[in-house]
Amino acid sequence: MENISIRQFVNDDYDRAVTVWHQAGLAVRPGDDKPSIISTLERNPGLSLVACAGGEIVGTVIGTFDGRRGHLYHLGVLPAYRCHGIGRRLVAEVAERLAVLGCSRLNLSVRHDNVAAVKFYETLGFETTGLQMGKEI
Ligand SMILES: CC(C)(COP(=O)(O)OP(=O)(O)OC[C@H]1O[C@@H](n2cnc3c(N)ncnc32)[C@H](O)[C@@H]1OP(=O)(O)O)[C@@H](O)C(=O)NCCC(=O)NCCS
Repeated sequence: MENISIRQFVNDDYDRAVTVWHQAGLAVRPGDDKPSIISTLERNPGLSLVACAGGEIVGTVIGTFDGRRGHLYHLGVLPAYRCHGIGRRLVAEVAERLAVLGCSRLNLSVRHDNVAAVKFYETLGFETTGLQMGKEI
């Protein structure tokens, strides 16, 4: 596997990131439009990252901090680059950056039928807690 670098997700990464999300099988919803993602990046500086191979984005993660908890969104690695520690590195780097901000807990949502992602997160020490609920407003 070629050298993988991790850097901050910047506004200009949006179009390529959407392609990665599609190729990684992540749902791209209305709240994932460019203005919304840029707003998330601006509200949470330095908490979203991309993994690059030869200058091309091959993985992404969006991190947020509400002052109490950290949350991960859109963790995805292109299929050809999986199982080489990129997902682990992306999560670890966001966690480190959140810890510097005083955040002591990192949450995320995963579909219960996404068995691979559940196993991945369990490997990283995440535990299933409670039931998630939500509605469109
Ligand atoms: C989940 C995902 C990000 C993992 O990325 P990755 O770069 O392949 O993961 P890593 O190589 O860093 O794996 C870290 C650990 O998780 C484990 N793991 C990764 N994928 C796994 C899988 N499919 N099944 C079981 N364990 C898995 C690895 O064995 C590894 O453990 P190790 O370090 O002890 O060997 C990637 O599979 C992906 O993009 N999936 C599709 C999108 C998705 O479902 N995202 C999560 C949405 S909530």
